[in-house]
Amino acid sequence: MNIGTPLTANATRALLLGSGELGKELTIALQRYGVEVIAVDRYQDAPAQAVAHRSYVIDMTDGEAIKQLVALERPQFIIPEIEAIATSALAEIEAEGRITVVPNARAIQLTMNREGIRTLVAEELGIPTSRYAFAQSFEQLQAAVEGGISYPCFIKPTMSSSGKGQSMVKGPEQLQEAWDYAKSSGRVDTGKVIVEAKIDFDFEITLLTVRALDGQGEIQTYFCPPIGHRQEQGDYRESWQPQAMSGASLALSQDIAMKVTEAIGGLGLFGVELFIKGDAVWFSEVSPRPHDTGMVTLVTQQQNEFELHARAILGLPVNPSLARIGASAVILGGVDAQGVVYEGLAQALSVPDTEVRLFGKPEAFVNRRMGVALACAASVEEARQKAVLAASLVVIKPVL
Ligand SMILES: Nc1ncnc2c1ncn2[C@@H]1O[C@H](COP(=O)(O)OP(=O)(O)O)[C@@H](O)[C@H]1O
Ligand SMILES: [Mg+2]
Repeated sequence: MNIGTPLTANATRALLLGSGELGKELTIALQRYGVEVIAVDRYQDAPAQAVAHRSYVIDMTDGEAIKQLVALERPQFIIPEIEAIATSALAEIEAEGRITVVPNARAIQLTMNREGIRTLVAEELGIPTSRYAFAQSFEQLQAAVEGGISYPCFIKPTMSSSGKGQSMVKGPEQLQEAWDYAKSSGRVDTGKVIVEAKIDFDFEITLLTVRALDGQGEIQTYFCPPIGHRQEQGDYRESWQPQAMSGASLALSQDIAMKVTEAIGGLGLFGVELFIKGDAVWFSEVSPRPHDTGMVTLVTQQQNEFELHARAILGLPVNPSLARIGASAVILGGVDAQGVVYEGLAQALSVPDTEVRLFGKPEAFVNRRMGVALACAASVEEARQKAVLAASLVVIKPVL
């Protein structure tokens, strides 16, 4: 495709809905090709807004607000970075035929709600997942668990991310609390929760999968080397690449990722989350966009996940190959405070072959991701140690 000059009448404009740390890196990647980027979030001074050409603060669950902004900015691309968006407005905008919603409006609709994507993958595509059921009342939940899901199981709001509202239940005495938590802590109360049997996996991976045009203009599917990760309370703490796995489980993982992304369609990068045990693979969920565990690719890949997404969106060829072994470890706020101060950066960066990204978020929360440490090494074990050490040396202090 042709790209115009930013801030002129022929600019190629991208409207980013959601402006977190992943959006910030995507904005930088798009700007490297001369794309004009407009960053939107529900609060002022979100990470991507610091590097975008322009920014807006709107309620992205308000369809009218989105349509008004799109009419004002007339972007060629709308790139959702978060899940809580008025997806019916995106579908209407897409149907008018002038604007590309990335990867497409249906994908955003399907993945914003666990019910949509789970039903498509398990029931239409016949891909293995955990046993699951949806419940709209505590009684329904109890009946589903006792009727076959069994313990231990996970209870999650159908609309939530980063582990919000999610809990693991080991026995009947914990069920009520998990139900109450899921009902009160989802992003949007859909009135429904999903209950999933716990999969006893050896490890879990994110398989970054790219649908991009090749030199001949044909859509091809590309796979990045698998990313291993460790989650705590439903949120990622560490990731590394490549995750060692058997040839059979890798082939099965790629086959699942191929089918799921093909069913979703469009162009872009997807984060396919999979559970692995021996040679067996279960689908967990998919993000139709860069994935938080994929931040490790900032130091490991020829083209990181943001560059791959930017290229795929723009119809440019991609290269998903690994350049070096590496790991990431998140830096959490540790305090609830505004305008915090980061100490220990020099010590952290004294760990060889490390980098630190601070996202510059205006407000810290105890469990909010404020930065990430990245490290390279000759082995995954060594890279993980370095990343975790570097992350631990960054200390976040409230201003007293
Ligand atoms: N059915 C399950 N079996 C085993 N572990 C699970 C299951 N569901 C979730 N988990 C654990 O919780 C993490 C977060 O769950 P996930 O469904 O990915 O929520 P989110 O959308 O918040 O990322 C997973 O990466 C995994 O570690
Ligand atoms: Mg997840």
